[in-house]
Amino acid sequence: MQHTGMFKENAFAGKTAIITGGGTGLGKAMAKYLMELGAKVVITSRKMDVLEKTSKELEAETGGVCFPIACDVREHLQITQMVDTAIQKFGQIDILINNAAGNFISPTERLSARAFGVIIDIVLKGTVNCTMELAKHWINNKQTKAKVLNIVTTYAETGSAFVVPSATAKAGVLAMTRSLAVEWAKYNIWFNAIAPGPFPTKGAWDRLLPGEMAKKFDLGARNPLKRVGDHQELANLAAYLVSDFSDYVNGECVTIDGGEWLQGAGQFNLLNQIDSSQWDMIEQIVKNVKGS
Ligand code: HXC
Ligand code: NAP
Repeated sequence: MQHTGMFKENAFAGKTAIITGGGTGLGKAMAKYLMELGAKVVITSRKMDVLEKTSKELEAETGGVCFPIACDVREHLQITQMVDTAIQKFGQIDILINNAAGNFISPTERLSARAFGVIIDIVLKGTVNCTMELAKHWINNKQTKAKVLNIVTTYAETGSAFVVPSATAKAGVLAMTRSLAVEWAKYNIWFNAIAPGPFPTKGAWDRLLPGEMAKKFDLGARNPLKRVGDHQELANLAAYLVSDFSDYVNGECVTIDGGEWLQGAGQFNLLNQIDSSQWDMIEQIVKNVKGS
């Protein structure tokens, strides 16, 4: 089934969004949808060639405005320059989507201190630094509304083996989301998060399901809905959470994973494997149990 956009045309007219990691994958999908809805979008990441290509492609596809700015979210000075440039260009920034991330699978005992640190620096410190830089600007300028959306993962809540730096960093981002939703509501800054399940992107699949692993661990086949996510489905949710329609949603983390993480959690969920004739037998056995 092809998923379509859910908003009215021009629902984001007059709004400007910064999307970190906006040149590829889910960041690009969110950029495209916000542009289709009339928002001006700044996309940032380390690779200017990728950003420029995406920017041209999205402008041609949507007729909207997409402005690329190179910025490594590990470098505070680069963030300051990126935010200054975006404000100079568009006057006001209304939305920040912290989407940039680094991740790879590895047994944790194989990680060097630098390998652990690089993920914390991109995911946790990068999100903190981009948020702080823009929020100080919003607070100093008494902006009447700003929305921050942080892209985490389902394992920010549950933890996960073999992606421990990412799980640790995303859990920190989630804690920040919930904390600042309360502390900075008085400054008219909203904070929400999305926890996506599997949405195939080159960046994630090359590092998390390399080689034969994508076939061997088919994430669609083991999902309760028997499929992976469609980028437009995530873009719809993101658009809702940064729109005026979600003004009473603050400090929330919305899971979008087809029920994947709950499947692993429910005590008896594995009984899905039992067929109808087996259930007939089990029912008789259980009904025949008498006494204690
Ligand atoms: C062990 C590794 C490693 C690996 C890198 N390192 N890859 N260690 N196993 N597979 C170590 C290196 O040896 C080095 O440590 C340190 O990590 C830094 O590596 P660099 O290559 O120098 O880092 P850098 O060039 O900055 O690249 C950052 C990166 C890279 C995170 C390592 O993967 C990247 O650029 N990723 C960006 C995009 C991305 O990850 N997208 C996926 C997001 S998906 P030493 O000690 O040797 O110097 C996601 C959730 C998906 O987040 C959930 C799916 C369901
Ligand atoms: P992706 O295409 O690899 O996106 C990651 C982006 O982050 C890239 O555009 C990358 O661009 C940028 N980035 C990495 N390091 C950076 C740095 N130091 N400074 C600035 N930008 C940096 O992967 P994706 O799947 O779309 O992931 C997007 C978000 O969704 C991430 O937060 C990820 O954790 C989350 N997520 C994805 C899935 C999934 O199934 N795909 C599931 C759960 C959560 P450059 O290389 O140009 O810097």
